Amino acid sequence: MRALVTGGAGYIGSVVVEELLAEGADAVIVLDDLSKGHASAVVAPAELVRGAIADRELVTKLCRDHAIDVVVHMAASSLVGESVQQPARYYANNVTAGLALLDAAHAAGVDRFVFSSTAAVYGEPERTPITENFAVQPTNPYGDTKLAFERALGWYQRAYGMRFASLRYFNAAGATAKNGEQHAPETHLIPLVLDVARGGSPHVAIFGDDYPTPDGTCVRDYIHVSDLARAHVLAIGGMAARPARIYNLGCGGGFSVRQVIDVAREVTGHAIPVQIAPRRAGDPAVLVADSARIQHELDWHPARQDLRAIVGDAWQWLLAHPQGYPS
Ligand code: UFG
Repeated sequence: MRALVTGGAGYIGSVVVEELLAEGADAVIVLDDLSKGHASAVVAPAELVRGAIADRELVTKLCRDHAIDVVVHMAASSLVGESVQQPARYYANNVTAGLALLDAAHAAGVDRFVFSSTAAVYGEPERTPITENFAVQPTNPYGDTKLAFERALGWYQRAYGMRFASLRYFNAAGATAKNGEQHAPETHLIPLVLDVARGGSPHVAIFGDDYPTPDGTCVRDYIHVSDLARAHVLAIGGMAARPARIYNLGCGGGFSVRQVIDVAREVTGHAIPVQIAPRRAGDPAVLVADSARIQHELDWHPARQDLRAIVGDAWQWLLAHPQGYPS
């Protein structure tokens, strides 16, 4: 297998690259503009090419020169709140640039595509856990742009035979020994909680404690980034039998914000003070995946679904990389 991985210098992308290499991929080329990613997150022998996914000439050249047979497309703008403030950026990066990539890959003869989608396509679900058959009704531009791209893949499949798997991620968390979560600015719960534990911020804000959940705080389905990465490799293999597939990716367990903080207290031995803050716009109360489809069809099973393991791995990575990535 010879893969072009867009966004392969990012948090999830870098772990997907590790997984592809561990699986014996013949070539892994990372295309990343480094606007968010880190050059040093790309492990050898993967090759980092700094560039834009919208650069059709570059994409065509990379696909041809490296005889790419699958594109794993993870480069995207991915913050819900920011997408509400700056929809133009989300449509430009996630739809317009994404479609240029898809079309250039198709023109270069690539016929397999794995896409990073999101639970945000479901919006505020009526029930839980969420299956892939639930209505898609995104409540923010981020989810809407991911859905638009998924739909384009469907039409490329029918018209041109482009095989694809779209993976709807729930809450990625945790780390490998080499790669962990380092965003600027950081908005995700687990790294923010761990930042308090290591003496960064004095407290963590809980965005709302009056949700209709057992302890009033939002419930999410946290999935270890290694388990998420493994699903990409399985999805590539599965495309031979199933040319167009959408899969939810979560562990099926819901943890509230307070539960996450309690686990982090246990793992780090730090008190982690909290402050109750207003609700964050656009946060659904509960998002929990039913991932039975990928379990049955691709034999995917999370190996590290215990929240202690997930938070523990994120903590170990922070301790081992106190300055973060060097580049
Ligand atoms: N939260 C806090 N305090 C913080 C940060 C987060 O209470 O300082 C809460 C959020 O309100 C939310 C939960 O912790 O209830 C998890 O928040 P994250 O920002 O870590 O993750 P989200 O669930 O908002 O986002 C994830 C993915 C998105 C995806 C979304 C689907 O990161 O890409 O799920 O809704 F779109």
